[in-house]
Amino acid sequence: MPAVTAIAPGKIILFGEHAVVYGRPAIAVPVSDVRARAVVSADPRGAPGQIRIQAPDIQLEAFLADLPCDHPLAKASMAVLEASGVSRPPACTLRITSTIPLAAGMGSGAAVTVALIRGLSAFLGHRLPDEQVSALAFEVEKLHHGTPSGIDNTVITYARPVYFQRRSSSEGNLIETFQVPVPFSILIGDTGISSPTSIAVGDVRKAWQAETERYDRLFDQVGEIAQAARQAIEGGEPASLGPLMDQNHALLQEIGVSSPELDRLVTAARESGALGAKLSGGGRGGNMIALVSEGTANEVAQSLGENGARRVIVTRVGKVG
Ligand code: PMV
Repeated sequence: MPAVTAIAPGKIILFGEHAVVYGRPAIAVPVSDVRARAVVSADPRGAPGQIRIQAPDIQLEAFLADLPCDHPLAKASMAVLEASGVSRPPACTLRITSTIPLAAGMGSGAAVTVALIRGLSAFLGHRLPDEQVSALAFEVEKLHHGTPSGIDNTVITYARPVYFQRRSSSEGNLIETFQVPVPFSILIGDTGISSPTSIAVGDVRKAWQAETERYDRLFDQVGEIAQAARQAIEGGEPASLGPLMDQNHALLQEIGVSSPELDRLVTAARESGALGAKLSGGGRGGNMIALVSEGTANEVAQSLGENGARRVIVTRVGKVG
């Protein structure tokens, strides 16, 4: 049985984080400059049915049967076996690695899950359609996030820019992939502060429960920005995303998910020539993003480094291939 390799990109949310949990639209794009990889190979010395899982990035080496059921890697593997109708897989080793920063708003958890689901299902000879891959990954996301919107598993599974709106289970989520006729560059600045999304999402829920009307208004404004941003991207006017990013960041500050470190990087980006900047993802730490032109990218990247960014990634949205 030949070894199978599957990869999945990272992602960033361009507009709409947090409000998306409450049914407002959001835009996310894949970041193929970082990725998760799953390699599944037959283990000739293993006992039938035995899956060995290796995840060196988190110092994990264990048999699937020995992992707790609520471990994300175990849950994803079990979901694939069930979906494939395989109860006794051929003995194999499942090796997971990733270059996506952890707990930084780049979808590392979802990317690892999607790569694992694709790799293991292909190894078993039951390639799953994208819709099912995304649905299984969503179930695993619940372990990471508590109440995920579904945007991470969606953008990472389809690996295309996505306009996403969470809707009731009877309606189904709105998932629209869309074209980027004029590509643009985004710098991703990592505060280096690990910030679990579930905590920020939980805090926003408490705040929303305490002040529902105020938070609903903030979420509405975020949703309008996401709609306007999609029009700007599809209309080939990416430069007008800059002011929209600035407005979205101000709303995220009001929602209560920014931090002094994120604000410092956002200000540094704007002052060094970015067209706009905002935090991206769960907030409190993790990443911020800045819209840059070719002429300003280097200067903004340098300024982010001088103002505390541990790592700066440049990604091109809408590039071919
Ligand atoms: O921190 P990330 O990139 O995993 O993104 C979280 C985005 C939220 O809107 C805050 C939560 C969600 O499930 O959509």
